[in-house]
Amino acid sequence: MLTSMKVILDHAHKNHYAVMAMNSINMEMVRGAIMAAQEEYSPMIIQFGCGQMKNHAHLEEMVPMITELAGRVSVPIALNLDHATDYQIIADCINKGFTNIMFDGSALPYEENVERTAVVTAMAHAVGCSVEGELGHVGMAADSDDTNVDLYTNPEQALDFVERTGVDALAVAVGTAHGDYPAGKIPQLDFERLALLKKTVNMPLVLHGGSGSGEENLRKAVQYGINKVNVATDAFSVGKKAMLDALEREPKMDYMHMCMEAEKGIKQFVKNYMNILGSAGQYRFLDAVATGNE
Ligand code: 13P
Repeated sequence: MLTSMKVILDHAHKNHYAVMAMNSINMEMVRGAIMAAQEEYSPMIIQFGCGQMKNHAHLEEMVPMITELAGRVSVPIALNLDHATDYQIIADCINKGFTNIMFDGSALPYEENVERTAVVTAMAHAVGCSVEGELGHVGMAADSDDTNVDLYTNPEQALDFVERTGVDALAVAVGTAHGDYPAGKIPQLDFERLALLKKTVNMPLVLHGGSGSGEENLRKAVQYGINKVNVATDAFSVGKKAMLDALEREPKMDYMHMCMEAEKGIKQFVKNYMNILGSAGQYRFLDAVATGNE
């Protein structure tokens, strides 16, 4: 069922695990992810950003499809607008039924980030939609932003930020970056900073730039307090590779079967993530509720 992201992340924060948030731009990605969630008894966050929405994943088409698919399963599914900055787009998404808005003011001067994030929180909370803010700046792997400590989140400032904005979750910069890292590189995360951030703000924390982080880093990030991991680049690569591999095996494969291969690949990819992040099995009790064997 479509659920508030706050409800999902508060459970993850309390029970020390993380939830995958996958940028999903079509039916195959959404259905693969939601079916993975149902089969793994895991929560899941479906998200897409403003560019993806403009180019391909149109709001008017995606929301009814996601609502329908989420409504067929008993595990909680959130719908998040990723990296939003425009108030009008945010209002449209809230009106259309998004259950969370990620407002990204991380490139703004601090006071402006506080001010604008607080406006979005007020708008969203008025109708029961939750909000993720970002402090510090998670930049691009291609620009080596992951190693730029000047961009990392300051714990003391983070406390001020969450108190003044009322955000429900906070995206932190601790050594990851968006996009592909140079071949062979695995980022080095500042776990000490992450632990201090968690202790200081004591709320759900978000890791952006999940792609290419490596299983060990992801497991450790969860141990140190991350409750949501954003993944885009690797998910798109998995879908593309599944199609290309299928075509290589069967050069005459038609388009529909290629789409089905992509969905199968995405579903397995999401299941693996759910097991790494510890979200798999968290909602197994729903089975007992459904069969009356509580
Ligand atoms: P990646 O593309 O590096 O996985 O980052 C995704 C992300 O953080 C979306 O907000």
